[in-house]
Order: sequence, then structure tokens, then C-alpha cells
Amino acid sequence: MYAQSASESRPVTVTRLREMKAGGEKIVSVTAYDAGFAAQAEAAGIDMILVGDSLGMVVQGHASTLPVGLDHMVYHSACVARGAQRPLLVADLPFMSYRDVPHALASSARLIGEGGAAMVKLEGAGWALEVITALAERDVAVCAHLGLTPQSVHKLGGYRIQGREAAAAERLKADALAVERAGADLLVLECVPSALAAEITRSLRIPTIGIGAGPDCDGQVLVMHDLLGVTPGRRPRFAKNFLAGTGSVEAAFAAYAEAVRSGRFPGPEHGY
Ligand code: KIV
Repeated sequence: MYAQSASESRPVTVTRLREMKAGGEKIVSVTAYDAGFAAQAEAAGIDMILVGDSLGMVVQGHASTLPVGLDHMVYHSACVARGAQRPLLVADLPFMSYRDVPHALASSARLIGEGGAAMVKLEGAGWALEVITALAERDVAVCAHLGLTPQSVHKLGGYRIQGREAAAAERLKADALAVERAGADLLVLECVPSALAAEITRSLRIPTIGIGAGPDCDGQVLVMHDLLGVTPGRRPRFAKNFLAGTGSVEAAFAAYAEAVRSGRFPGPEHGY
């Protein structure tokens, strides 16, 4: 339904994401947790589907992502993999499933082998750099995640913007360079000031994907429930309901994709 060029109908790969960054083409990503919504995302021309551990909150009804287990992630990843073939499928390594290198390797093997993921995502730098290196050395594609890292909610003291003070901003910039050096292929930046995310994006060779990180990241991701206006509780500031004013889930995904690609989303009101 939504016109696609020949290159747009080929499966999205890590190489393609790098080409998109180099060419200034925005990368559009949403989360999905089952085959039906994944198929709608694919039909709408979404580039990347994240099977996020946000499923703990938006699907399972927990107050955080911490109760999500590896079996849940493998199950939902496999459901999504059956629903969509073209978008790059990224799956979250859940809390404590990558606490050291042996666990990270075994957990990633399940997400990729049983769950059909093409890339695994993990939160943090510091101790996690060793894990990123070990995965990269074994040719596992890795997405790092910095800024607001929800698995650290109790250490962070809540879901709040990160990198506002000068020292925290410097740490975030250093962490971003460190995850790239360790071998990450992609970096999610969550809830960081727009200017800081722009600076980090310019400093990296790998693409950045923002959520609450302003318009200058190489791409954007939204939790599907936020995009469709069915978020339990208060909708975060960085989210927008794209279902309002469109007639279907597929049209809402397409409207979001068009807004990201044209630079109309996120607007200043969605950033920090
Ligand atoms: O779990 C998730 O959905 C995520 C996104 C918010 C980036 O990590």
C-alpha cells in the first residue's frame, strides 16, 4: 500500500543502517511483541522492529522491565519473527541475562537461534563493555542502550532524563564512544537532552536511535503502545498518538514513519 523502492523491499541489515546514516536517511523503528502488529509495521515500511523488554510494562502489566525473563523475550521475539521479514529484528537481553560473558553468549544464542533476532540489545557501558566485545568478537550484532536505562531504574531513582549536568553529559559522551569501540553496531539513546544526543550522533560512526533524545539522532524508536495511544497510565512527553486522525494501525505506523523521515517528528515539544 505504501510505495517502496527496490532497496526498500530488501531485508534491512546492519550494513543498510550504516548506509542510511551516511546518506542522512532516517531509520524508523517501533517496538512489537507479536506477529500481527509486526506484520502491520512491515506493511507500513518500518525499518527496524525492537522486541523490547518494555513488554514487561505494556504487555504484562508490571511496573518495570525487571520481571521480564529470557523465556518471555525468546517467545515474543519468535512471534514477531513469524510476522515480519524485512525489518531488522532487534531483541532485548532482559535484566541479568547478560550479567557476565557466559550468560550473555548463552542468552544471545537463544534470542537469535530460537527467537529469530538479527541483533541483541543491552543496556549500559562500564562493566557491559566486556560483554559487548565478547559478542562482537563472535559476530553477534549488538545494539547498546544509554541514557535512561530502564533496567537500572532503582539505581537511577526513577524514570527521568539523564545527562543534564555537565559531568553526566561528559560521561555519556565517553560511554557512547566506548560502546562503539567495544564493537556495538547501533546505539539507542533514551531521554537525554536533544543537544547532547545531536553531539553524540555526530561523534559516532554507528547510527543512533533516539527516544526522547530530540530530532538529530539517525533514527527514532517508539513503544508501539505509546504510538497507538494505548499506553497504560500517563503518556510520556516524547510520545505521540499517531492513531488519532488515521484509520488503522497500519496507517498510524505509516504516519509515524513519514513524520520521522520528513523531520516533523519528534518536535521540540517531545524533547528535553
Ligand atoms: O524496551 C524497550 O522498548 C526499549 C525502547 C524504549 C528503546 O528499550
